Amino acid sequence: MKPIKVGLLGIGTVGSGTFNVLKRNQEEITRRAGRSIQITMVADLNTARAKELTQGECEVVSDANLVVSNPEIDIVIELIGGYGIAKDLVMKAIANGKHVVTANKALLATHGTEIFKAAQEKGVMVAFEAAVAGGIPIIKALREGLTANRIEWIAGIINGTTNFILSEMRDKGLDFDVVLKEAQRLGYAEADPTFDIEGVDAAHKATIMSAIAFGIPVQFDKAHVEGITKLQATDIRYAEQLGYRIKLLGIAKRTKVNGSEGIELRVHPTLIPAKRLIANVEGAMNAVLVQGDAVGATLYYGKGAGSEPTASAVIADLVDITRLATADPEHRVPHLAFQPDAMTDTPILPM
Ligand code: NDP
Ligand code: HSE
Repeated sequence: MKPIKVGLLGIGTVGSGTFNVLKRNQEEITRRAGRSIQITMVADLNTARAKELTQGECEVVSDANLVVSNPEIDIVIELIGGYGIAKDLVMKAIANGKHVVTANKALLATHGTEIFKAAQEKGVMVAFEAAVAGGIPIIKALREGLTANRIEWIAGIINGTTNFILSEMRDKGLDFDVVLKEAQRLGYAEADPTFDIEGVDAAHKATIMSAIAFGIPVQFDKAHVEGITKLQATDIRYAEQLGYRIKLLGIAKRTKVNGSEGIELRVHPTLIPAKRLIANVEGAMNAVLVQGDAVGATLYYGKGAGSEPTASAVIADLVDITRLATADPEHRVPHLAFQPDAMTDTPILPM
């Protein structure tokens, strides 16, 4: 069978991890996907670095439009980030009939409804496992593993940078700025780290999870967002002395006000008793607790950021799309997208 051809937009931290893992585990991935997956074209502003990373194994261009308009490409992976050029490229890829894989939570939390609608109309898939909690397959868990459940709430440490900062400040007594620089060096932080430290990145992820868990449109603008910048070393020390840890949690929860059902969607620092499992999630690790009515509480733990952990989720989406597109090439249902016409109108309540 012909290989499935992939165009990669952005070969930075996650893009290079994706390229390397796909190459290293090519044999196993091909076996699992039922077909070879080949990155045949890469777009990056820094073409010299991209050529060095790809070692002549694919075409390298600086203009990402050449990738999304190339009729040979079946799947586009968007790993540029941000809402501007990334949105434009994703919409063009969909319009050109290409499936899309993205790790871009900022884009999906703010423009997801428009993107998923376009994908549904065009009959292509948009997959985004890497957009929430890095390497943890939490989207799959919510969409597939827990599909029998009425989800009651989700609470998670879903930003690696802030968890790393809080852990290092507590354990090593290091200053906020020093640890933030280290998180940037390790590739955990966003291009604009204020998204991490002000809770925006966690709110993007909580917004996406709330949409899947509760069947509502993505509504980042309704989230209550508070980061960790107002925390001081003394807050962390006092919490410790009282038997608590401070964690930045993303919470999405069903609630009832005056008999009407609504959703709470919030991100803020939270005091958690030190003996709880989630209080002991350290460094850039993430953990997500999901409470379903049938299954009860479930916990998902793993690396929430970084090159190869995130690549692991990107490639899982590539394999999913390859399997589905291969099994059903003519009638391409957007199995991995939200279905905007099947959403409920349960409101997110102001906090
Ligand atoms: P990087 O900044 O490391 O990589 C982005 C790459 O895109 C850079 O190589 C950049 O080139 C290139 N680029 C920028 N603009 C363009 C353009 N117009 N055309 C082509 N290439 C372009 O980001 P990350 O890999 O860290 O993040 C990528 C996405 O993944 C983001 O949406 C992020 O939120 C998400 N993500 C990141 C995780 C992580 O751990 N890092 C984890 C989960 C999700 P140049 O450097 O020259 O500007
Ligand atoms: N900046 C993000 C974090 C990357 O620190 O969690 C993973 O989404």
